[in-house]
Amino acid sequence: MIVGVPKEIKTAENRVALVPAGAESLTSDGHTVLVERGAGVGSGFSDEAYSGAGAKIAGGVEEVWSQAEMILKVKEPIEPEWPRIRKGQVVFTYFHFAASEALTKAIIKSGCVAIAYETVQLPSGELPLLTPMSEVAGRMAVQEGAKYLEKVHGGSGILLGGVPGVLPAEVLIIGGGVVGTNAAKMAAGLGAHVTLLDISLDRLRYLSDVLPENVDLLYSNRHNILDQLKKADLVIGAVLLPGAKAPHLVKRVDLKLMKPGSVIVDVAVDQGGCIETIHPTTHENPTYVVDGILHYAVANMPGGVPRTSTLALTNATFPYAKRFARDGWRKACKADPALRLGLNVVEGQVMYPGVAEAFNLPLVDPQTLV
Ligand SMILES: NC(=O)c1ccc[n+]([C@@H]2O[C@H](COP(=O)([O-])OP(=O)(O)OC[C@H]3O[C@@H](n4cnc5c(N)ncnc54)[C@H](O)[C@@H]3O)[C@@H](O)[C@H]2O)c1
Repeated sequence: MIVGVPKEIKTAENRVALVPAGAESLTSDGHTVLVERGAGVGSGFSDEAYSGAGAKIAGGVEEVWSQAEMILKVKEPIEPEWPRIRKGQVVFTYFHFAASEALTKAIIKSGCVAIAYETVQLPSGELPLLTPMSEVAGRMAVQEGAKYLEKVHGGSGILLGGVPGVLPAEVLIIGGGVVGTNAAKMAAGLGAHVTLLDISLDRLRYLSDVLPENVDLLYSNRHNILDQLKKADLVIGAVLLPGAKAPHLVKRVDLKLMKPGSVIVDVAVDQGGCIETIHPTTHENPTYVVDGILHYAVANMPGGVPRTSTLALTNATFPYAKRFARDGWRKACKADPALRLGLNVVEGQVMYPGVAEAFNLPLVDPQTLV
C-alpha cells in the first residue's frame, strides 16, 4: 500500500502523523511511505530521518494526496485539503465532524473512507486515541500553572513545592479522569499538596490506590468546591461529561473566595470549560485576569509541546495504521470492533450516529460494509 503523510497546514499545528520509526516499520512490511517535504520538521523530525527510514520524500503536497491509498494526518482536513481527497482513499485522522457541517459534506462528497481517531473506542469505553493528548494536557497543566504562579508572570509568587520550613502550594484539581490524574501525579511529584475532586466514587477508590500520600481525594459537590477554593493557589479544571458541555462548577462570584494572584488552568475549555469566567486562549496569548485571578485556557495545550505530543499520539495511532496497511480497512474493521467505531463516513455514507444526528443525515450500520 502507498501511505501518504502530508504536512499539517492548520495554523500553529506542528504535529505530524507518522514518525521515522513508523515509516521504517511500514517500509519493512513492504509498503511505500510518501512523506511531504518538511512534514516532520515542527516535531523535530528532518526529511533525512524519514528517508533514512526508507520513506520517499514528496516534493509537493499534490503528489502525496494523489498517490496515497491511505493518508495519515493529525488535524481534520481543512478547506484547501478537501479537493485533494479521492474516492476510496482511506483518511485516518482527528475529524470532529459534529463541529463542522461543511467538513462533513465535503467528506461525503469526496467518497473517501474517513476513520476518526476520536471515535475509536475500546469495549471498556476508553478512547485510546484521545487518551495520549489528555495525558499531555494534564501534565502540562501543572507546568503552566507553576509558571504563572511566578510573580513575573502575574501570579502570587508561590513555589509549588515550597522548601523546608515553608509550606508547599495548594493545588485543587476538579475531575479525576485522565487529565486530572496526570495533573495530580505531576503536582504531587513537585511537592505540592493536592486535593482532587470527582463525582465517581469508583474512580476515587481507584485513585486512592494509585496516587501518592500528598494527594487528598474528596467527593465533588458545591460545598466542597467552595471550601477548597479558599485555600487553593492553583486550580485545574479537568471535568468531562461525555458528549456534553462541561458544567460551570466555579462561578464568577466564587473567584472572590480565592487568594489574589492564584491561577486557574481550565483544561476542559475545549468543551466550554468548568469555570464560568473561562474563554479559550492561544499559545501566543495564553492568559488573562478576572477579579485578580489569572486564567490560563489554551484550547489545544498539546500543540505547545509538539515533539512529545507527536510521539505520544503516534504510539497510539500507529498500531492501527499498520493494520490498515496490512489488511485493508474492511478486514481490519471487521476484526476489531474498536476500529469499526472509528468509521465515520464511508464512500459517501455516514456510519457514526453522532455525525448523522448532528446534521440530520441517514445513518448506515458499518456492519453492512464489513
Ligand atoms: N485543553 C486541551 O488542550 C485539552 C487536551 C486534552 C483534553 N482536554 C479536555 O480535558 C477534559 C478532561 O478530559 P479527560 O480525558 O480527563 O476526561 P475523563 O473522562 O478521563 O475524565 C473526566 C472526569 O470528570 C469527572 N467529573 C464529571 N463531573 C464532575 C464533577 N461535577 N465534579 C468533578 N468531577 C467530575 C468524571 O467522573 C471523570 O472522572 C475534557 O474536556 C477534554 O476534552 C483538553
